[in-house]
Amino acid sequence: MKGIILSGGTGSRLMPLTRVTSKQLLPVYNRPMIMYPLEMLLAAGIKDILIIVAPDHAGDYLKLLGSGKEFGARFTYEIQDKPEGLAAAFIIGEQFIGSDNVCMILGDNIFEDDFSKTIKKFKKGAHIFAKQVPDPERFGVVKFDSKMQAVQIEEKPKTFLSKYAITGLYVYDNRVIQAAKLAKPSERGELEITELHNWYLAKHELKVDIVEGEWIDAGTFDTLYRANQIAYRKAHKKQI
Ligand code: G1P
Repeated sequence: MKGIILSGGTGSRLMPLTRVTSKQLLPVYNRPMIMYPLEMLLAAGIKDILIIVAPDHAGDYLKLLGSGKEFGARFTYEIQDKPEGLAAAFIIGEQFIGSDNVCMILGDNIFEDDFSKTIKKFKKGAHIFAKQVPDPERFGVVKFDSKMQAVQIEEKPKTFLSKYAITGLYVYDNRVIQAAKLAKPSERGELEITELHNWYLAKHELKVDIVEGEWIDAGTFDTLYRANQIAYRKAHKKQI
């Protein structure tokens, strides 16, 4: 399995913190934010990792993470010139992925849980992870039936669909490249990852698990602050 960390975007909601650096390089307790998703891929035994970054601070990522040797891994870098959507990662990464399966994680997502066993077990289809949140309209949202089977997925729904947000950890088989190429830009002009999930859902090949521990998309001041607390708690095994 190949790994992708998507670390693009401008971090506009975190200005002025992101005026001189990238959101995913900001400190989260004792490490730059991107180290958390990176550790998650490494823990799952993924050694071949593509890091997709925005052009502005690309050199800083290289300085921080290097070739990957230090981590017993191999890192490849690609530049995403403008934010064109999460699904574009599989077009940018087509050659890198080759004929393998792929696990993508967003560079600003921090999880408390350990997903290594789940990722290692993956064989086919798509496997994603949802979490109940108070503000689902900020995210991709999944609706379940009474047997907790996913029945509908929408990106940032305007009317209430469910409280389950889709987190930024995704595992796909190789057909995700094909699905990404079929996706059409959304109203906000992006290739939405939600389209890929709907592609697999229509084939009854989308598995959605519930995340037990905390999950943070650290893209705002409050969630960045919370991410720091979780990282501190994990490091010191304390309750906060
Ligand atoms: C993206 C995805 C969304 C997902 C979220 C998780 O949102 O489009 O489906 O729920 O990441 O962090 P964005 O960060 O592009 O607003």
